[in-house]
Amino acid sequence: MANDRVYNFSAGPSMLPLEVLQRAGAEITNYNGSGMSVMEMSHRSKVFIKIFDETQAKLRKLMNIPEGYKILFLQGGATMQFGMIPLNLMTGSGKADYAVTGHFANLAMKEAKKYGTVNIAASSEDKKHIYIPGQADLKLDPEADYFYYCSNNTIEGTEWQYVPEVSVPLVCDMSSDILSRPVDVSKFGLIYAGAQKNMAPAGLTVVIIKEDLAGHEMPITPAIMNYKSMIDKDSMYNTPPCWCIYMLGLVCDWLESVGGLEGMEKRNVAKANMLYKTLEESKLFQLSAQPEARSFMNVTFRTGSDDLDAKFVAESVERGFTNLKGHRSVGGMRASIYNAMPTEGVEALCDFIRDFDKKN
Ligand SMILES: Cc1ncc(COP(=O)(O)O)c(C=O)c1O
Repeated sequence: MANDRVYNFSAGPSMLPLEVLQRAGAEITNYNGSGMSVMEMSHRSKVFIKIFDETQAKLRKLMNIPEGYKILFLQGGATMQFGMIPLNLMTGSGKADYAVTGHFANLAMKEAKKYGTVNIAASSEDKKHIYIPGQADLKLDPEADYFYYCSNNTIEGTEWQYVPEVSVPLVCDMSSDILSRPVDVSKFGLIYAGAQKNMAPAGLTVVIIKEDLAGHEMPITPAIMNYKSMIDKDSMYNTPPCWCIYMLGLVCDWLESVGGLEGMEKRNVAKANMLYKTLEESKLFQLSAQPEARSFMNVTFRTGSDDLDAKFVAESVERGFTNLKGHRSVGGMRASIYNAMPTEGVEALCDFIRDFDKKN
């Protein structure tokens, strides 16, 4: 890595691959002979439409997105989807199943309650969200318009290691694990993700929606939050987040160069296993999540002493790491090791953990 860069363990916005930043840097004032930056282009220009179409095609190929699914490039963050999903999909029986396995799933569930009847199909709140309920624990409503879950709980450091089997459309917040491993898109009705962890800079939200789910929205649905109008206008009902879409295209190229999502998964599993093993072998650190629910993206841990946690975080900065402090709602530490965190970054963190463990 360039030696003026830090290993940034932020939960989001997060590290982008160095190769991607360098390419964007090289193209920043004059994209492909156009004489202007992608930031300065009309979203209706030929040059930009080509970037847009190619980015969609690259993402479709990487994720193996089948026909019948549309890719939308929206704004409003993942949070806008908390409202957009019920407004558009909670319109059959007016009921939906929600699995509440962390902070963001809980926010989504609360938002959905404004628009219909929510059934809590599963919750891990009884143990502060350190586990993921099993398939047999899901209390499904056969009349639900959809089943909602969040595949990776960014704050708590847990990740669903299975795709729930349900008979209604499956809706998933993949903000913090999209593109980290292959998923069978055909099992889902709708997948969405804020881009700022594994995809691109903040400002873009990617929605992958089975086309026939759109077009049944509530009459009060704002036009900007209507999947059907966004599909009909190919995400250009209004100005899309052009720069972020371009950056996503570069990230997709980078992912192809490291072996696609299969290659990325291998790297991610190796990085996470190395870090979990180091923490397990220490005398000082405890892991927050239950072993079978551990996230491959966000590793949460603590010493059990607030003072020692603070010391760890302070010393980590001196070693060239940033953003290892846990989320304010749970405390402790969190190392977010998304796709762009190089293996050497995790190795360096493991060395630091071993040193700290010896000295304290
Ligand atoms: C899993 C998950 N869902 C939703 C959000 C909210 O995203 P945004 O800030 O893009 O609205 C986050 C933010 O970190 C997240 O991690």
